[in-house]
Amino acid sequence: MKILLVGSGGREHALAWSISASALVDELVIAPGSNAMTDFGKCVPVAADDVEGLTELAIKMATDLVVIGPEVPLVLGLVNRLADNNIAAFGPSQIAAQLEGSKAFAREVCRRHNIPQPAFAVASNLGDAKQHIDAMGGFCVVKADGLAAGKGVVVADTTEEAKQAATEMLGGRFGAASQQVLVEERMTGPEASLFALVDGADCLFMASAQDHKRAFDQDQGPNTGGMGAISPAPRLDDALRDQVMAEIVEPLARGMADEGTPYRGVLYVGLMLTEAGPKVVEFNCRFGDPEAQVILPRLKTDLVTAILVVIEGGLGHFSMRWDERSAVTVVMAAKGYPGAYSKGSEIRGLTRAAGREDTMIFHAGTMIGPDGTVRANGGRVLAVTGLGTDGASARQTAYNAIADIDWPDGFFRTDIAKS
Ligand code: GLY
Repeated sequence: MKILLVGSGGREHALAWSISASALVDELVIAPGSNAMTDFGKCVPVAADDVEGLTELAIKMATDLVVIGPEVPLVLGLVNRLADNNIAAFGPSQIAAQLEGSKAFAREVCRRHNIPQPAFAVASNLGDAKQHIDAMGGFCVVKADGLAAGKGVVVADTTEEAKQAATEMLGGRFGAASQQVLVEERMTGPEASLFALVDGADCLFMASAQDHKRAFDQDQGPNTGGMGAISPAPRLDDALRDQVMAEIVEPLARGMADEGTPYRGVLYVGLMLTEAGPKVVEFNCRFGDPEAQVILPRLKTDLVTAILVVIEGGLGHFSMRWDERSAVTVVMAAKGYPGAYSKGSEIRGLTRAAGREDTMIFHAGTMIGPDGTVRANGGRVLAVTGLGTDGASARQTAYNAIADIDWPDGFFRTDIAKS
């Protein structure tokens, strides 16, 4: 098969690693990919949000399958454009991707299908938003409706804080993405994520994970795209997993199929494990980053086979095999991230680190310098994954590899997956 993979980050490096291990794959092209991914396929400089360019590339290379890593091309309708050209793709249609592209859409779907979630209200003007904030007593969450690169959520302690957030968002802080805002009840409890495959009406549990969003140890500092993750999520036991599948994923898949907007692809369910049971924080319509870097190394079933089953609609008769061990990934980021950071500093010791047993190094933002050295080329730069019999030993494996990496301009959290 010829496969086109869309994206360039650590998640896509993990996807390229998994896809290229499949006996079904003859050719892998990655758009735009990165230097590090050339080990697995040919990289072509078409941007991940260039829907027309990607469609043209898929037609030109006569691809059998397009695998889409990031959310933006999904929300922009890449799957629909490919379908118009009879090209199979792994990921939801534009309307189904609204589960991530519009938080109001996601909350309304859950409301229609009795899926557990916090109380919420949607507002498109400041007067309404303030009224909802007052009604919730200020202790609430204010969210931009659309995609805001992980920055569109404010967890407020007071009415003033919540109103300030709503004022900024409705004032255009995130452009079209914050033309309307959600005001939500603030939930409490540990967070975890569950990943499932959905082929329309049927769904299949994949794995759980827990990420660490704050930049610094002990959950200090600004929110990031994720500084590390563990899979399975220590707090999501089998009983909770079954409850989430029965109360959230299955009714969602059935409900969307019944409404004529079936979801196909991987569904990422962000959960709050409240005292009243698991509730939906948010949905994402793709693998997480860095969650893919802990889930895919545990997958024993051929990923491309699983993707084809989703596309052909056979999940009801399919099962997946997983490594029972735990995986932990630790992200190494450029100093300054998620704020301003510089690019181009040299990273040494990667060959030794990657040569360790049960260790994988996924590149999120590196390039090869003119002298052949590996250099930083992004905010999140590396995801160093270790496997182990339990979370503690997986964690040790990951940190042992990090100790081999010599990068004075980088930083990482020292408490990923620490219980
Ligand atoms: N790690 C969070 C995300 O992928 O959205």
